[in-house]
Amino acid sequence: MLQHFLTGLELDQAKILKLLKLAQNIKNQPQEYSNALTGKSIVTLYEKPSLRTRLSFDIGINKLGGHAVYLDQQNGAMGDRESVKDFALNISAWADGLVARVNHHSTLNTLAEHASIPVVNSLCDLYHPCQALADFLTLQEVHGDVSQLKLAYLGEGNNVTHSLMLLAATLGTDFVAVCPKGHSPDAQIVKQAEQIAAANGASVLISDRVEAAVGANALYADTWVSMGNDACLEQVKQTFMPYQINAALVQQTGASTVLHCQPAHREYEITSEVMDGNNSKIIQQAQNRMHAQNALLVSLLNPNYV
Ligand code: CP
Ligand code: NVA
Repeated sequence: MLQHFLTGLELDQAKILKLLKLAQNIKNQPQEYSNALTGKSIVTLYEKPSLRTRLSFDIGINKLGGHAVYLDQQNGAMGDRESVKDFALNISAWADGLVARVNHHSTLNTLAEHASIPVVNSLCDLYHPCQALADFLTLQEVHGDVSQLKLAYLGEGNNVTHSLMLLAATLGTDFVAVCPKGHSPDAQIVKQAEQIAAANGASVLISDRVEAAVGANALYADTWVSMGNDACLEQVKQTFMPYQINAALVQQTGASTVLHCQPAHREYEITSEVMDGNNSKIIQQAQNRMHAQNALLVSLLNPNYV
C-alpha cells in the first residue's frame, strides 16, 4: 500500500494509470465516492500561499465525505513554535492524513519520517506532484493515450517542470523543457527523468531554443518567478519574454493544447489571447486538481474503493 506521496516517484506507470482511471471515475460518478472518506480528517498545512490547492483539497475532501482542516503558519510556524517532528507526531495523533505545502523538500521528508499517517506533497521547492497528476489527467482527457504525445514546457525550470518531466517520463510522453540559459531544471532530476523515460520508450530534452518545441501536442507555462523568489516579473521579463506562450508560438509549434498550472501572469508567460482561446485547457486543468487529488487520497486512505 502507498504510504506517502512526496515526489511522485512512489508510483510506477501501471499505478499512475490506475490512479488516473480512478480520478476519471470519481469525476464521472461522484455519487459512488461520496462516502469514500467518511470519518477521515485530513490536515492541509501551508507554508506558502495558495488558491487552487487549498480549495481543491478542501472541497474535494468534503465531496468524499471527509473533513479537511486548514492550518496556516499564523498559529505557529513549523520549526519555530515547535519542531517539524513534533508537528508530525501531534497531527498524527488526531488526523488520518497530512497534505503539506512547504518551503523545503526536506521538511516533507521529516514530516513523513515521524508521521504515522500518509503525507502528501502539495508543492515544495523541488516538486509539485499533485499538479502533474492533474496535468496528465487533462492531457489524457483531451488527447487519449499520453504515451503518443510530445509535451513542451516553456519558461523557468522549477518545481512544476520537475514533476511534469518525471511524470512524462513515467508515462512514456516525450518531454521538452525550453528554458533560458541559467534557468534549466535541476540537473540531477533531469538525469533521473532521462533514465525513467528511456525505460518507457520516451525522451527528455532540455533546450534554450523555442524551436525545440516544434511538433509538440501541448505547450505548458508556469510563472517566471516562483513563490520564495525575491525577483519581480519586470526584472526577469527581458530574459523570459522569448519563451512567452503567445499566438505566434502556438502556430509555430503546431500545438493544439495549452496548459498553465496557474497563478498566471497575463502578458508575461502567456498572453490573454492564448489563455482565453480555444486551445487553452487551463480551467479544465485546474478543475482536475480536485479529481486527481481525490483519487490519490482515496488510494492512500481507503484502498477498498480502488
Ligand atoms: N497550481 C497551484 O498549485 O495553484 P495554487 O498555488 O493557487 O495552489
Ligand atoms: N512554480 C510555482 C508554482 C505555483 C503553483 C511556484 O512554486 O510558485
